[in-house]
Amino acid sequence: MKTATETNMLLTQLTLEEKASLCAGLNMWMTKSVDRLNIPSLAMYDGTNGIRKTASTEELGIFGHNVPATCYPTGSAIGSSWNVELLRELGIALGKESRELDVDILLGPGINMKRTPLGGRNFEYYSEDPCLTGELGAAFVEGLQSQGVAASVKHFACNNQEYEKMITSSEVDERTLREIYLSAFERIVKKADPWTIMCSYNLLNGEYTSENEFLLKRILREEWGYDGVVLSDWTAVDNRIKGIKAGLDLEMPGPAHYHTQAIVQAVQAGELEEQELDACVRRILELVRRTREHQAVAIQSAEERHELARRAAAESMVLLKNDNGLLPLQPERLSSVAVIGRFAKQPRIQGAGSAKVTPARVDIPWDELQDIAGGRLELRYAEGYAQASPTDQIDEGLIEESVALAARSNVAVIFAGQPESSESEGIDIASINLPPHQSKLIQAVAEAQPNCIVVLSSGTSLVMRPWVDQVPCVIQGWLSGQGAGRAIAEMLFGLVNPSGKLSETFPVKLSDTPATLYPRGEDGKLYYREGLFTGYRYYDRKQLEPQFPFGHGLSYTTFEYDSLEAVQTGDEVHVACVIRNTGTRSGKEIIQLYVNDEECKWVRPDKELKAFAKVELEPGETKKVHFTLERRDFSYYNTKEQRWVADTGFYNILAGSSSRDIRLRSRLHCDFGTQTVALHTFSLLSDWLRYSHSQAVLEEYLEDMNRHSEEAIVLNEEFIGFWNDFPLIKIIQMFGQQWLQNKSPRLVIQEMLDRVARCQPADEATAER
Ligand code: BGC
Repeated sequence: MKTATETNMLLTQLTLEEKASLCAGLNMWMTKSVDRLNIPSLAMYDGTNGIRKTASTEELGIFGHNVPATCYPTGSAIGSSWNVELLRELGIALGKESRELDVDILLGPGINMKRTPLGGRNFEYYSEDPCLTGELGAAFVEGLQSQGVAASVKHFACNNQEYEKMITSSEVDERTLREIYLSAFERIVKKADPWTIMCSYNLLNGEYTSENEFLLKRILREEWGYDGVVLSDWTAVDNRIKGIKAGLDLEMPGPAHYHTQAIVQAVQAGELEEQELDACVRRILELVRRTREHQAVAIQSAEERHELARRAAAESMVLLKNDNGLLPLQPERLSSVAVIGRFAKQPRIQGAGSAKVTPARVDIPWDELQDIAGGRLELRYAEGYAQASPTDQIDEGLIEESVALAARSNVAVIFAGQPESSESEGIDIASINLPPHQSKLIQAVAEAQPNCIVVLSSGTSLVMRPWVDQVPCVIQGWLSGQGAGRAIAEMLFGLVNPSGKLSETFPVKLSDTPATLYPRGEDGKLYYREGLFTGYRYYDRKQLEPQFPFGHGLSYTTFEYDSLEAVQTGDEVHVACVIRNTGTRSGKEIIQLYVNDEECKWVRPDKELKAFAKVELEPGETKKVHFTLERRDFSYYNTKEQRWVADTGFYNILAGSSSRDIRLRSRLHCDFGTQTVALHTFSLLSDWLRYSHSQAVLEEYLEDMNRHSEEAIVLNEEFIGFWNDFPLIKIIQMFGQQWLQNKSPRLVIQEMLDRVARCQPADEATAER
């Protein structure tokens, strides 16, 4: 198959039964073939941070040993790299590895927003912010698909909890849905054109996403113009006919003969238009064409991939705290380092569930520390805790041993984190505190050894309150894949300079988090009552101090920000700022650009991330960094007008090193010109006054009304101040009774609306806002 026209021809040659059967998989991991027409099967496998290819196409293999593959940093880790080019590189590498393993569709990236740190799949997802997630996701998809391998962006949409997810409806108001939960999907669809999208398990506002017309048809296809394949999450299909009508092309897993039969019968009974089925099949055939037309690609060696895994891990880890410049460690100034904690020898590199890769190899932190510094100083190990489980018993013996070791060393490095079993698809996280044993261990060791460094492994934010003030250094190591052991060793000894920043807010305590009152659904409904105020948007509005804010991350060097400029040109705002490395090491800084709307009548978060850049600078080097903000970056979703609106008015452009470390700001009046706003029966006085033509009509009618009323209306400041937010129809009812006589207020308003429509030039059906 070569062209889209050939796809259409092929479609005409398929029988109804063949078309229906193509809409479900062949088995757990493949699509069906039609041999007589040379339509081949496609193979798809997980996942989000590496390939999880099962030994057989009939098994799900979640708990099994799958084909070994490169295990890259998980979503929250790589999200903290803020490195768009790195994501592209990872996409390319996974594309090449997929080709080598005969994988046509890779089931990732996972890009859902993090609503609560308790989400069981948080480790798979990039961030709490749609701009960061969308930019990273788009680069990953572009990289992957450049190798002829389809991405499957998932889970569309609002899969934010594991608890009863298959029978729970995410209840989200439209503005929140569009601005927070759909926005990253939209960015990826428009920028990178993913060849497939996977719908989620949950219902959205009462309807399964796999059959949700509002989501799949109106928004995804009609508004965003998406023409790729929508496939179901595994068993997410309930009503297949509704699904076809909504545009769910492919049901997984297959063969789902019962649904094939139902589709055929529905077409024969006239309940389903054959062209609706054709639309799904055409998209599946197009997917086959897209994946098959690609040339062979150059394969990377396992060694090259491992190097990339190490580099990606190093870019992902975040130096949260480094008091007195204790880090990096300088072997020549030390004689011994105590390495404490089982994770130093048995590292946690990923989460569990469908995203769990069988890693090709794994770097062990202890071995890598020995490799880097073993010859120059003495490294000694203590287990610290027997086994990491959420409820583990406090083992005083292990703590005493660790304390003694730390006391007779120059420095203690403690490897701690969430237990292996706590982060998995299928179950939400029970607690974001470290297990009691580890918390006590850190406190006891820090007391004995003030030079104490804590390295954390977790896929979600953690509470550190019990011990964080006692230790000078903390590194968030995330779940950073098979190269994490080397990366952390290099970071501790300064061979790499930390450059990651938090992709999610770390709270002081769980009850500070945005969804704390309604963390999970009940009775089949999960209300997103915090609305737009997720992540840092919530902490800003509540003026809550997080433990470590979104976007925070230190470096072994320092950066200075200067000369922020912002200029509007048409619908774009061009921003530039100067950044300088003022320290003694080369390093990377992530400059974050937030926008604050100063005037909007609608509730808006205090600031929102709209652009960012990761810049590498040598000591003393200066660079000017440029950004282009678009109209959409200033917009909110106006549900009344059912569209994105950027108001003309004052905005603040904030350049920050984190969401709470804003270095520069520029106040700018942006003029986004005229806007189409339709007047209607209940338009407010302020709406009528907003447009020159409607104001003229209004004044004419008021004059007539005043002639018949005892109390004349004068459109002065006092009157407008009071009545501005009243629908004009109500003002007429209040003041125009004598004028109206038997004529209904609705009739008068309709007359006025007709007049407005008639007297405006076509392109001025609108007015200045
Ligand atoms: C997960 C998907 C995954 C699929 C196939 C489902 O349980 O939600 O993310 O791609 O299984 O393993």
